[in-house]
Amino acid sequence: MAHWWLRKLYRSIEGIPRRLMRWGHARFLNPGRIDQLEAAGPTGARMAGVLRQLRSGDLGPSTAWIDRIEAERQRLFRSDALVVDEPDAEPGPFDAGKTIRDISTASREPRPATLLHLLIREFQPAVALELGTNLGISSAYLASALRLNGQGTLFTLEGSPHRVRHAQAVHQRLELDNITYVTGLFVDTLGGVLDDARPIGFAFVDGHHQKEPTLNYFDAIWPHTREKAVIVFDDIRWSEGMKEAWRTLQEDRRIRVAVDLRDMGLCITTRDPSPEGRYVSSAIAA
Ligand SMILES: C[S@@+](CC[C@H](N)C(=O)[O-])C[C@H]1O[C@@H](n2cnc3c(N)ncnc32)[C@H](O)[C@@H]1O
Repeated sequence: MAHWWLRKLYRSIEGIPRRLMRWGHARFLNPGRIDQLEAAGPTGARMAGVLRQLRSGDLGPSTAWIDRIEAERQRLFRSDALVVDEPDAEPGPFDAGKTIRDISTASREPRPATLLHLLIREFQPAVALELGTNLGISSAYLASALRLNGQGTLFTLEGSPHRVRHAQAVHQRLELDNITYVTGLFVDTLGGVLDDARPIGFAFVDGHHQKEPTLNYFDAIWPHTREKAVIVFDDIRWSEGMKEAWRTLQEDRRIRVAVDLRDMGLCITTRDPSPEGRYVSSAIAA
């Protein structure tokens, strides 16, 4: 009996460190810093416009989509069903014994997920890429923005076939059919996706948060991007390695604008290595 309660307590607090890490996110976006970003040039100004819209909460037709996706998130959070719910299935090291509720806490919260959605609305990519599907919540934010744009496909990559199956069910309920699922380790699948799906206009890197893999994913994605593609790196302060990765990216001349949102880094890529017009923010969400 005591064991059961301990498990329940552990599950309810498991997601807290990640939530605390993100506590200071865009809710407190600093208007002065957004002004600086706006003054940095036309690309910075577009990014600034998105951050202002997020602050204002005036989301127009996105609101109805967000409400539906958040209802799905609540449904997942209430589910004590096992992630691996097929007899004879091989669970893999990260899914064994986990419930849907356990892993739902790894999904991006409503506000940063809304930021991803608004970036897609503003930058209108024909091809968007996501590394780390989990249960499909951020994918739904991205794909619904593509739907509102009237064009574009999302390729979402995930190592766990069980998570992909649950994500597909979420997206079916939301009637989102503009998503291609790619199952397998990023290191095995990313190259093939990049060969098939180009030019990349938007990428969200939300898995395998370590320094070298993160930098390798950027090196792999960049040659396949269009000019002024948006690349969002999640959990840039998750570890010392991720902090180093973010510092390296901020200095990389293939990135024209780098906005530090504390837990997320927003980048706009370029083919022009000149220093003029480069903008690198200090943490903007303080
Ligand atoms: C933080 S979760 C993604 C959350 C999702 N983007 C959201 O906000 O709804 C990270 C996901 O990446 C997957 N993942 C981590 N490392 C991976 C790798 N090397 N290859 C494939 N998938 C990986 C994990 O299984 C996990 O589902």
